[in-house]
Amino acid sequence: MIATAGTVSPGSEPAPPGFPQLRLVLAVSLDGRLAPAEGGRFQMGGAGDRRVLEEAMAWADAALVGAETLRGDGSTCLIHGPDLLEQRRQAGRSPQPIAIAVSRSGRLPADLPFFDQPLERWLLQASPVSPGAAPAGFHRRLPLESWHEALAVLGALGQRRLVVLGGARLAEALAAEDLLDELQLTLCPRLLGGVHSWLPPQARVAPAARQGWRLVEHRVLPGEELLLRWRRGPDQGVSS
Ligand SMILES: NC(=O)c1ccc[n+]([C@@H]2O[C@H](COP(=O)([O-])OP(=O)(O)OC[C@H]3O[C@@H](n4cnc5c(N)ncnc54)[C@H](OP(=O)(O)O)[C@@H]3O)[C@@H](O)[C@H]2O)c1
Repeated sequence: MIATAGTVSPGSEPAPPGFPQLRLVLAVSLDGRLAPAEGGRFQMGGAGDRRVLEEAMAWADAALVGAETLRGDGSTCLIHGPDLLEQRRQAGRSPQPIAIAVSRSGRLPADLPFFDQPLERWLLQASPVSPGAAPAGFHRRLPLESWHEALAVLGALGQRRLVVLGGARLAEALAAEDLLDELQLTLCPRLLGGVHSWLPPQARVAPAARQGWRLVEHRVLPGEELLLRWRRGPDQGVSS
Protein backbone atom coordinates (compact mmCIF):
# COMPACT_ATOMS: atom_id res chain seq x y z
CA MET A 1 0.00 0.00 0.00
CA ILE A 2 1.16 3.51 -0.59
CA ALA A 3 1.86 5.96 2.19
CA THR A 4 -1.10 8.11 3.12
CA ALA A 5 0.17 10.42 5.82
CA GLY A 6 -0.11 14.03 4.75
CA THR A 7 -0.77 17.48 5.99
CA VAL A 8 -3.56 18.60 3.69
CA SER A 9 -7.17 18.40 4.83
CA PRO A 10 -9.85 17.17 2.44
CA GLY A 11 -11.11 20.68 1.88
CA SER A 12 -9.17 23.55 0.46
CA GLU A 13 -7.87 24.60 3.88
CA PRO A 14 -4.67 22.94 5.12
CA ALA A 15 -5.35 20.82 8.19
CA PRO A 16 -3.92 22.12 11.44
CA PRO A 17 -0.79 20.20 12.46
CA GLY A 18 -1.73 17.00 14.24
CA PHE A 19 -5.29 16.91 12.90
CA PRO A 20 -6.10 13.27 12.13
CA GLN A 21 -6.38 11.71 8.70
CA LEU A 22 -9.69 9.87 8.24
CA ARG A 23 -10.10 6.86 5.98
CA LEU A 24 -13.61 5.48 5.55
CA VAL A 25 -13.43 1.72 4.98
CA LEU A 26 -16.53 -0.14 3.81
CA ALA A 27 -17.54 -3.25 1.91
CA VAL A 28 -20.34 -2.36 -0.47
CA SER A 29 -22.51 -4.20 -2.97
CA LEU A 30 -22.35 -3.32 -6.66
CA ASP A 31 -25.32 -1.05 -6.07
CA GLY A 32 -23.64 0.68 -3.15
CA ARG A 33 -25.51 -1.01 -0.32
CA LEU A 34 -24.04 -1.84 3.08
CA ALA A 35 -26.68 -4.36 4.00
CA PRO A 36 -29.64 -6.17 2.41
CA ALA A 37 -33.05 -4.50 2.24
CA GLU A 38 -34.28 -6.36 5.30
CA GLY A 39 -31.26 -5.21 7.36
CA GLY A 40 -29.88 -7.35 10.15
CA ARG A 41 -26.50 -9.03 10.49
CA PHE A 42 -24.87 -9.65 7.16
CA GLN A 43 -21.41 -10.61 5.93
CA MET A 44 -20.78 -8.47 2.86
CA GLY A 45 -17.17 -9.20 1.98
CA GLY A 46 -15.07 -12.37 1.76
CA ALA A 47 -11.45 -13.16 2.57
CA GLY A 48 -10.03 -10.55 0.19
CA ASP A 49 -12.05 -7.80 1.77
CA ARG A 50 -11.12 -9.03 5.22
CA ARG A 51 -7.45 -8.69 4.33
CA VAL A 52 -7.71 -5.11 3.06
CA LEU A 53 -9.84 -4.20 6.06
CA GLU A 54 -7.11 -5.54 8.33
CA GLU A 55 -4.46 -3.63 6.33
CA ALA A 56 -6.40 -0.43 6.94
CA MET A 57 -6.70 -1.32 10.62
CA ALA A 58 -2.94 -1.95 10.72
CA TRP A 59 -2.38 1.56 9.32
CA ALA A 60 -4.64 3.12 11.93
CA ASP A 61 -4.08 4.44 15.42
CA ALA A 62 -7.78 4.21 16.16
CA ALA A 63 -11.03 3.04 14.57
CA LEU A 64 -14.27 5.03 14.76
CA VAL A 65 -17.40 2.91 14.70
CA GLY A 66 -21.05 3.90 14.88
CA ALA A 67 -23.01 2.61 17.87
CA GLU A 68 -25.65 0.97 15.67
CA THR A 69 -23.00 -1.08 13.88
CA LEU A 70 -21.65 -2.20 17.25
CA ARG A 71 -25.11 -3.02 18.57
CA GLY A 72 -25.89 -4.97 15.39
CA ASP A 73 -22.60 -6.82 14.97
CA GLY A 74 -21.89 -7.21 18.69
CA SER A 75 -18.15 -6.79 18.20
CA THR A 76 -15.68 -4.93 16.04
CA CYS A 77 -12.99 -5.95 13.59
CA LEU A 78 -9.66 -7.17 14.98
CA ILE A 79 -6.37 -7.55 13.15
CA HIS A 80 -5.56 -11.27 12.92
CA GLY A 81 -2.93 -11.33 10.13
CA PRO A 82 0.38 -12.37 11.76
CA ASP A 83 2.38 -10.17 9.35
CA LEU A 84 0.26 -7.13 10.20
CA LEU A 85 0.50 -7.79 13.92
CA GLU A 86 4.27 -8.17 13.56
CA GLN A 87 4.49 -4.91 11.60
CA ARG A 88 2.71 -3.10 14.41
CA ARG A 89 4.83 -4.79 17.05
CA GLN A 90 8.04 -3.75 15.28
CA ALA A 91 6.76 -0.19 15.04
CA GLY A 92 6.13 -0.19 18.81
CA ARG A 93 2.38 0.11 18.32
CA SER A 94 -0.39 -1.71 20.19
CA PRO A 95 -1.60 -4.89 18.46
CA GLN A 96 -5.00 -3.33 17.74
CA PRO A 97 -6.00 0.24 17.07
CA ILE A 98 -8.11 1.83 19.80
CA ALA A 99 -11.82 1.21 19.15
CA ILE A 100 -13.75 4.46 19.47
CA ALA A 101 -17.52 3.98 19.67
CA VAL A 102 -19.52 7.00 18.49
CA SER A 103 -22.89 7.54 20.15
CA ARG A 104 -25.38 10.12 21.31
CA SER A 105 -27.33 7.83 23.60
CA GLY A 106 -24.38 5.99 25.12
CA ARG A 107 -26.56 2.88 24.77
CA LEU A 108 -24.02 0.10 24.37
CA PRO A 109 -25.16 -2.89 26.39
CA ALA A 110 -22.50 -4.29 28.71
CA ASP A 111 -23.09 -7.82 27.44
CA LEU A 112 -21.91 -7.01 23.91
CA PRO A 113 -18.94 -9.25 22.98
CA PHE A 114 -17.24 -5.94 22.07
CA PHE A 115 -16.49 -5.46 25.76
CA ASP A 116 -14.59 -8.73 25.89
CA GLN A 117 -12.42 -8.02 22.86
CA PRO A 118 -8.70 -7.47 23.50
CA LEU A 119 -8.87 -3.77 22.75
CA GLU A 120 -8.65 -0.36 24.28
CA ARG A 121 -12.18 1.13 24.07
CA TRP A 122 -13.03 4.81 24.03
CA LEU A 123 -16.45 6.40 23.79
CA LEU A 124 -17.00 9.56 21.77
CA GLN A 125 -20.34 10.80 23.01
CA ALA A 126 -22.38 13.72 21.77
CA SER A 127 -23.92 16.07 24.33
CA PRO A 128 -25.52 15.94 26.74
CA VAL A 129 -23.07 13.72 28.54
CA SER A 130 -23.51 13.11 32.24
CA PRO A 131 -20.33 14.07 34.09
CA GLY A 132 -18.17 11.44 35.69
CA ALA A 133 -16.03 8.55 34.75
CA ALA A 134 -16.32 6.70 31.48
CA PRO A 135 -19.08 4.08 31.50
CA ALA A 136 -18.07 0.54 32.42
CA GLY A 137 -16.09 -1.15 29.68
CA PHE A 138 -14.65 2.08 28.29
CA HIS A 139 -11.18 3.31 29.15
CA ARG A 140 -11.99 6.88 28.24
CA ARG A 141 -14.97 9.02 27.29
CA LEU A 142 -14.59 12.17 25.20
CA PRO A 143 -17.31 14.69 24.42
CA LEU A 144 -18.50 15.16 20.86
CA GLU A 145 -19.71 18.73 20.76
CA SER A 146 -18.35 19.38 17.31
CA TRP A 147 -16.51 17.00 15.03
CA HIS A 148 -13.69 19.49 14.43
CA GLU A 149 -13.07 19.85 18.14
CA ALA A 150 -13.38 16.15 18.85
CA LEU A 151 -10.98 15.23 16.06
CA ALA A 152 -8.51 17.90 17.17
CA VAL A 153 -8.61 16.39 20.67
CA LEU A 154 -8.06 12.90 19.26
CA GLY A 155 -5.12 14.21 17.23
CA ALA A 156 -3.64 15.86 20.32
CA LEU A 157 -3.97 12.51 22.11
CA GLY A 158 -1.84 10.92 19.38
CA GLN A 159 -4.66 9.45 17.29
CA ARG A 160 -3.47 10.75 13.91
CA ARG A 161 -4.69 7.99 11.60
CA LEU A 162 -8.31 7.06 11.97
CA VAL A 163 -10.17 4.36 10.10
CA VAL A 164 -13.90 4.92 10.01
CA LEU A 165 -15.70 1.58 10.01
CA GLY A 166 -19.21 2.89 9.35
CA GLY A 167 -22.06 2.60 9.30
CA ALA A 168 -23.90 4.93 7.00
CA ARG A 169 -24.97 7.48 9.59
CA LEU A 170 -21.47 7.92 10.91
CA ALA A 171 -20.18 8.26 7.33
CA GLU A 172 -22.90 10.81 6.65
CA ALA A 173 -21.94 12.93 9.67
CA LEU A 174 -18.33 13.09 8.50
CA ALA A 175 -19.14 13.69 4.83
CA ALA A 176 -21.45 16.54 5.81
CA GLU A 177 -18.45 18.33 7.31
CA ASP A 178 -15.93 17.35 4.66
CA LEU A 179 -13.87 15.38 7.13
CA LEU A 180 -13.15 12.27 5.08
CA ASP A 181 -9.69 12.21 3.49
CA GLU A 182 -9.96 8.76 1.96
CA LEU A 183 -12.65 6.39 0.79
CA GLN A 184 -11.65 2.74 0.73
CA LEU A 185 -14.46 0.72 -0.74
CA THR A 186 -14.44 -2.99 -1.49
CA LEU A 187 -16.95 -3.62 -4.24
CA CYS A 188 -18.51 -7.01 -3.63
CA PRO A 189 -20.29 -9.01 -6.34
CA ARG A 190 -23.82 -8.63 -5.00
CA LEU A 191 -26.90 -6.65 -5.95
CA LEU A 192 -28.94 -5.93 -2.85
CA GLY A 193 -31.39 -3.11 -3.53
CA GLY A 194 -33.20 -1.54 -0.59
CA VAL A 195 -32.48 1.59 1.39
CA HIS A 196 -29.19 0.74 3.08
CA SER A 197 -26.85 2.67 0.81
CA TRP A 198 -23.47 3.58 2.23
CA LEU A 199 -24.56 7.17 2.53
CA PRO A 200 -28.21 7.43 3.58
CA PRO A 201 -30.54 8.63 0.78
CA GLN A 202 -31.10 11.99 2.52
CA ALA A 203 -27.40 12.48 3.34
CA ARG A 204 -25.95 15.94 3.01
CA VAL A 205 -22.43 16.05 1.60
CA ALA A 206 -20.34 19.20 2.06
CA PRO A 207 -19.92 20.97 -1.31
CA ALA A 208 -16.12 20.65 -1.15
CA ALA A 209 -16.38 16.88 -0.69
CA ARG A 210 -18.54 16.30 -3.77
CA GLN A 211 -15.65 16.12 -6.20
CA GLY A 212 -11.88 16.02 -6.44
CA TRP A 213 -11.48 12.38 -5.43
CA ARG A 214 -8.41 10.77 -6.98
CA LEU A 215 -7.98 7.04 -7.36
CA VAL A 216 -4.85 6.10 -5.41
CA GLU A 217 -5.24 2.34 -5.30
CA HIS A 218 -7.12 -0.38 -7.12
CA ARG A 219 -6.68 -4.06 -6.52
CA VAL A 220 -8.55 -7.11 -7.74
CA LEU A 221 -9.23 -9.30 -4.72
CA PRO A 222 -10.10 -12.99 -4.49
CA GLY A 223 -13.81 -13.75 -4.76
CA GLU A 224 -14.51 -11.28 -7.62
CA GLU A 225 -14.08 -8.33 -5.27
CA LEU A 226 -12.41 -5.06 -6.16
CA LEU A 227 -10.66 -2.70 -3.79
CA LEU A 228 -10.89 0.96 -4.76
CA ARG A 229 -9.31 3.72 -2.74
CA TRP A 230 -9.72 7.40 -3.44
CA ARG A 231 -8.36 10.38 -1.63
CA ARG A 232 -8.51 14.10 -1.73
CA GLY A 233 -5.29 16.04 -1.28
CA PRO A 234 -1.87 15.88 -2.94
CA ASP A 235 -1.15 13.42 -5.73
CA GLN A 236 0.49 10.26 -4.43
CA GLY A 237 0.24 8.02 -7.46
CA VAL A 238 -1.79 4.91 -8.17
CA SER A 239 -0.96 1.37 -7.15
CA SER A 240 -2.74 -1.77 -8.21
N1 LIG B 1 -20.60 -3.38 4.81
C1 LIG B 1 -19.88 -2.68 5.68
O1 LIG B 1 -18.68 -2.45 5.48
C2 LIG B 1 -20.55 -2.12 6.90
C3 LIG B 1 -19.79 -1.40 7.81
C4 LIG B 1 -20.43 -0.84 8.92
C5 LIG B 1 -21.79 -1.04 9.09
N2 LIG B 1 -22.48 -1.76 8.20
C6 LIG B 1 -23.93 -1.94 8.36
O2 LIG B 1 -24.52 -0.67 8.50
C7 LIG B 1 -25.65 -0.77 9.37
C8 LIG B 1 -25.50 0.24 10.51
O3 LIG B 1 -25.35 1.54 9.97
P1 LIG B 1 -26.24 2.73 10.51
O4 LIG B 1 -26.10 3.85 9.57
O5 LIG B 1 -27.61 2.20 10.81
O6 LIG B 1 -25.61 3.04 11.91
P2 LIG B 1 -24.16 3.56 12.40
O7 LIG B 1 -23.69 4.69 11.57
O8 LIG B 1 -23.27 2.37 12.60
O9 LIG B 1 -24.55 4.04 13.86
C9 LIG B 1 -25.49 5.05 14.04
C10 LIG B 1 -25.40 5.47 15.48
O10 LIG B 1 -24.09 6.00 15.73
C11 LIG B 1 -24.18 7.13 16.55
N3 LIG B 1 -23.85 8.28 15.72
C12 LIG B 1 -23.72 8.34 14.37
N4 LIG B 1 -23.38 9.59 14.00
C13 LIG B 1 -23.29 10.31 15.14
C14 LIG B 1 -22.96 11.65 15.41
N5 LIG B 1 -22.68 12.52 14.45
N6 LIG B 1 -22.97 12.06 16.70
C15 LIG B 1 -23.25 11.19 17.68
N7 LIG B 1 -23.56 9.91 17.49
C16 LIG B 1 -23.58 9.49 16.23
C17 LIG B 1 -25.63 7.17 17.04
O11 LIG B 1 -25.62 6.28 18.17
P3 LIG B 1 -26.76 6.22 19.31
O12 LIG B 1 -27.96 5.61 18.64
O13 LIG B 1 -26.16 5.34 20.35
O14 LIG B 1 -27.00 7.60 19.80
C18 LIG B 1 -26.37 6.58 15.85
O15 LIG B 1 -27.64 6.07 16.15
C19 LIG B 1 -25.69 -2.20 9.85
O16 LIG B 1 -26.57 -2.93 9.01
C20 LIG B 1 -24.27 -2.67 9.63
O17 LIG B 1 -24.15 -4.06 9.47
C21 LIG B 1 -21.89 -2.32 7.10
